[in-house]
Amino acid sequence: MSLLLDSIAPHGGQLINRIATPEQKQEFLDKANYLPTVQLDERAVSDLELIAIGGFSPLTGFMEQADYLSVVNEMHLTNGLPWSIPITLPVSQEVAEPLKEGTLIRLNNAKGRFVGVLQLTQKYQYDKIHEALHVYRTNEEKHPGVAVVYRQGAVYLAGPVWLLQRDAHPKFPTYQIDPAESRVLFREKGWKTVVGFQTRNPIHRAHEYIIKCALEIVDGLFLHPLVGATKEDDIPADVRMNCYEIMLRHYFPKDRVILAINPAAMRYAGPREAIFHALVRKNYGCTHFIVGRDHAGVGDYYGTYDAQYIFDEFKPEALGITPLKFEHAFYCLRTKQMATTKTSPSDREERIHLSGTKVREMLRRGELPPPEFSRPEVAAELARAMKVFTENQYEI
Ligand code: ADX
Repeated sequence: MSLLLDSIAPHGGQLINRIATPEQKQEFLDKANYLPTVQLDERAVSDLELIAIGGFSPLTGFMEQADYLSVVNEMHLTNGLPWSIPITLPVSQEVAEPLKEGTLIRLNNAKGRFVGVLQLTQKYQYDKIHEALHVYRTNEEKHPGVAVVYRQGAVYLAGPVWLLQRDAHPKFPTYQIDPAESRVLFREKGWKTVVGFQTRNPIHRAHEYIIKCALEIVDGLFLHPLVGATKEDDIPADVRMNCYEIMLRHYFPKDRVILAINPAAMRYAGPREAIFHALVRKNYGCTHFIVGRDHAGVGDYYGTYDAQYIFDEFKPEALGITPLKFEHAFYCLRTKQMATTKTSPSDREERIHLSGTKVREMLRRGELPPPEFSRPEVAAELARAMKVFTENQYEI
């Protein structure tokens, strides 16, 4: 496949592939028992996977200190490319101590399975508060992204990685479409412009509205829900996937949408994560990316449109993907349709805004979210999931 035929170049110009070849895999398997082992958590496995499949192009591994500091302080890699979130492998002092720079490290997942190899080029200490303040704009531990930084080990391991093999996703194998594949699919469909949609919540009417506004101006939609680690009270990925399937069945033109999973972990870094989300979708072949209200935000840490303003800090050609920015959408009682203040003449009291938190509270009380918020088939699926979770005494 020639990259020249792609409508949009990956970040840095080349789609990275760090999946071990059969020969490399055999070599790693032969050495496996002699290599020191580091155990990865769910986020690190996601990062390994995304590096390997090119979702994080141009990264070929976990960041060395110079790139790490440049990303944290300047939102650029040392080669000058925009990059807003550090991709690092934290371990404790005890784990780091015996590891030697210049050697291969075996990477296991939490179940003890051999999943990848790191060529350790550097191990370094870092300042957690500095990282929190720059990346998350707060040092409060109650921010879920900051909490992860504070909990993790004090040393970062860095260097190029290989994924031992590309396994099918255990839950959503048919929706596992890697960047090399999505690029081919877009081309086969003849889509010259494709808008990526990041989401970690069950799809609601405001999502549907902004997606459809975007679909009016581009050729295709890459509906790309995140299925990696999220905070505990987010709705589980399988329930969300059911909701997207329902929407595709009833409310979207099938030939203009591709639904695929994004294996990434959620950071809740608001503005910085919006840039990161856009660059990852660029690697999947998207030309445009939706950024709505409080994108990737949590609590009150970010202003409603901070995740849009941050795009102005970069040269558009350096980012190489166009943000489509949408105002806070609501159901307008006066015009009886979804709208924003740009399109609705309504007064404040005529606007139905519902947050994910409010909807979760309604579901817990056994109430269905209203049709102004959720399509009825989606509301029914959420209620069904809530019942199952309550019976199993899980939180939703
Ligand atoms: S996110 O953490 O992945 O951003 P979510 O799944 O809720 O969370 O949002 C997906 C996208 O839809 C984001 O770009 C977000 O800004 C946008 N969005 C969510 N709700 C609204 C809304 N009511 N109005 C406008 N944009 C919204």
